[in-house]
Amino acid sequence: MKERNERHIEWHASGITREDREHLNGHQSCILWLTGLSGSGKSTVAAAIEKELFKQRSRAYILDGDNLRHGINGDLGFGPEERSENIRRIGEIAKLLADAGIITIVAAISPYRQDRDKVRASCTPGDFIEVYVQCTMRECERRDPKGLYKKTRTGEIKYFTGISAPYEPRLQAELVLKTDERTVADSVSEVIAFIQRRQLINSSPEEGMDT
Ligand code: ADX
Repeated sequence: MKERNERHIEWHASGITREDREHLNGHQSCILWLTGLSGSGKSTVAAAIEKELFKQRSRAYILDGDNLRHGINGDLGFGPEERSENIRRIGEIAKLLADAGIITIVAAISPYRQDRDKVRASCTPGDFIEVYVQCTMRECERRDPKGLYKKTRTGEIKYFTGISAPYEPRLQAELVLKTDERTVADSVSEVIAFIQRRQLINSSPEEGMDT
């Protein structure tokens, strides 16, 4: 790819900073990057975290791998290069949302360590919080919420993560959620406690909203 200046593209700064937006929101933003096998509970836990944050009047938004593949990533398949491109794009969107002051929750298998590390390296230091959603293959396959393990076993799906395509677990995850041992509510509490310890959100939120 040509260098940016060769393409005559400049960066236009906004008059409103991320800090201004965070001040307005009453909390800081970050990227909670949930990674793990299909069926490990990423989407479920992401939705529960989002709901809790909303209740606490924090602005959060989920970027779900499945959902993005309906639109912006609809042209991508599941080979290594396409998964890498998927993660690159999700990372770029996540960074924009974080810049907009939003607690961004990514739920994507993101099986390659290098892809996750690349996103981490391109973020403002401290923004990228890797959350490994850990669950045994056996339990993921037992849950099989979309019937995809079954389809893989019958040969209908090729290159399925954990069976015929790799999943590379964390080397530097900030958090590990063992969804085969603990409840969804436990996982939410762990994440909320983590971002409170980092002082990204208030430890004693005002009266929440009923949802
Ligand atoms: S990633 O590997 O590129 O990060 P992503 O999270 O966007 O994956 O999408 C995974 C979703 O695509 C799964 O939840 C599942 O519904 C669907 N899917 C379809 N084919 C595959 C496959 N071969 N491997 C993994 N997931 C697949």
